Amino acid sequence: MSFVRVTPAGGPTRADGPRVEVAMVPATSPYGAVVKAATQRVGASFVPVDLATPADVAGRILVVDLTRVMVASRLGRRVIAISPRNDLDCYDIVRPDEVDLRMERALRNLVEIERLQSRVREERETVQILNEIGFALSAMTETSDLLQRILTHARRALRADGGSIYLLEKGTLRFGAAQNDTIDFQPSRDTLPIDDNSLAGFVANRGQVLKIDDVDRIPHSAPYKPKYTNDRRMGYRTRSALLVPMLDRESAVIGVLALFNRKTIPGIPLASFDRVLPFTERDADLARSIASQAAVAMENHRLYSDIRNLFHGFVTAAVTVIEARDPSTAGHSHRVAELTTRLARAVSDSNESDFLGVRFSNQELEELNYASLLHDFGKVGVPERVLLKADKLYPWELERIEGRFKLAAMQSQLECLRSEYGEEGLKEKLLRLDDDLLHVRRMNRPGFRFRPSDIDELTAIGNRWYVEVLKQPLVSNDDVRRLCIPRGSLDADERKAIETHVVHTYNFLKVIPWTRNLRRVPDLAHAHHEKLDGSGYPRGLSQNQIPYGARLMTIADIFDALTAGDRPYKSALPVERARSILMEEARAGHIEGPAVELFYARRLYEGVTESRRDTEADQGSR
Ligand SMILES: [Fe+2]
Ligand SMILES: [Fe+2]
Repeated sequence: MSFVRVTPAGGPTRADGPRVEVAMVPATSPYGAVVKAATQRVGASFVPVDLATPADVAGRILVVDLTRVMVASRLGRRVIAISPRNDLDCYDIVRPDEVDLRMERALRNLVEIERLQSRVREERETVQILNEIGFALSAMTETSDLLQRILTHARRALRADGGSIYLLEKGTLRFGAAQNDTIDFQPSRDTLPIDDNSLAGFVANRGQVLKIDDVDRIPHSAPYKPKYTNDRRMGYRTRSALLVPMLDRESAVIGVLALFNRKTIPGIPLASFDRVLPFTERDADLARSIASQAAVAMENHRLYSDIRNLFHGFVTAAVTVIEARDPSTAGHSHRVAELTTRLARAVSDSNESDFLGVRFSNQELEELNYASLLHDFGKVGVPERVLLKADKLYPWELERIEGRFKLAAMQSQLECLRSEYGEEGLKEKLLRLDDDLLHVRRMNRPGFRFRPSDIDELTAIGNRWYVEVLKQPLVSNDDVRRLCIPRGSLDADERKAIETHVVHTYNFLKVIPWTRNLRRVPDLAHAHHEKLDGSGYPRGLSQNQIPYGARLMTIADIFDALTAGDRPYKSALPVERARSILMEEARAGHIEGPAVELFYARRLYEGVTESRRDTEADQGSR
């Protein structure tokens, strides 16, 4: 990669490489002039100080005139003493009569050591900064957070007052993030063309680093003409600038990292624009490393987002498949996911003792959301006739019985014609048939709460009528058994078939290679019909074996099954009636009572489920 450096004559300049300062103590020493001249010859800066505060000597090489000041014998490895003594613990001792002869060599050696140590420190710092940035960037999941984090780290590492990230989008550059310690900078919404006319455009166009010591002194021959009118209006002045391209793995430019106005202390607003320092070549190297790390992080992030979107699309498609198969439960999966995650958030926020120590992180909420969306996916493995069964008899079974009733009516008319009984007798028989059919239809409804006498009546119908042509009773023993299903519309075998949906769900989910964050999705979905007292299915797990998220999903699932108004096998209940049923379930030791109370106290169902008309209905949830 090529490198463009713009350093105009007269701009703020500074030699690259670590700056070393030599302090003469005391400032009034007669050797001051000799030490100053020697310091300048070895390329360091001379600072006369009185040994007043630690700040005066911190980070500096000291030349101490011990003929003028008294200090302890331990002076340290950064001190050159002027003294006739030879028992001092310091880097070097120059006798007063040898200052002219030896001071320069002593200083040159110590300054060189300082520079080397300083370089080692800088390299160590660079590695540490890049490690920290790499670690911080790998943890980000939102693009805007990622860009802000990149910029914060880059500005701190390079001591830049301001900075921007431009992203390449549809052949132009747009502001992705902007920060400034001195003014409240609002980035422009305009996009920049990728050409040589602007600094960022130039860098993106050429893939080159641009280091400018003073933006106001860019030579006329340079192709870019930066406009900082916005900054000027706000009383801000951009002087030094460093812009580096962000390159992906294929070395394609995906953005530009721009840093402005290098200063002495990071994070503190600039007191004067005259104090702005130019960026060094080491800064440019570090910025390049940060930009490539940022580009890789952005690329990973983009890939991660693509995978997430792809996966989200797959889950939505899977849910659509289940709900298309059983239109009466349309929206159930999404509602259960919404209610479950609301309840999990409420539990996390609650200070009540029942929920102490229960906290769901964002990743756990996402995991629970996917598990809830897919909890009933296994219904694809349940026969459709069972899934859609609205009454105790299948429609064709009821039609068969009704056909037999028609034949029985015709048989009665024939018997009347054969004068086995008169018109009155026929009327009586036909009325009786109507009543009996009505009773069969009543018994067929899953919500009908029948008494033992109703069963006797059904048996009596079976005994009362016999259809000669079919050689069959009107209602068979098997019909009686089916019509006497005590709860809901399903007999034991059909209920078992429905219950297998949990196992189908689990078997389907466990073959998906879930990422680490989502690895418990199959287990969560597997447990949505378990009950705290061990009476649930399919494994009969007890409270401590059921993941807490699954316990919350169970509440949401039952609530939605009760309040949804469009199921074939039952009518909708209003939310208050559903509350009593859920509390009964909690008292029976099936579900978490405190979570049900929280669900209602926070009215978490609002906007998800609307109150329905009050009807008596089957209370079973599937
Ligand atoms: Fe289910
Ligand atoms: Fe469900």
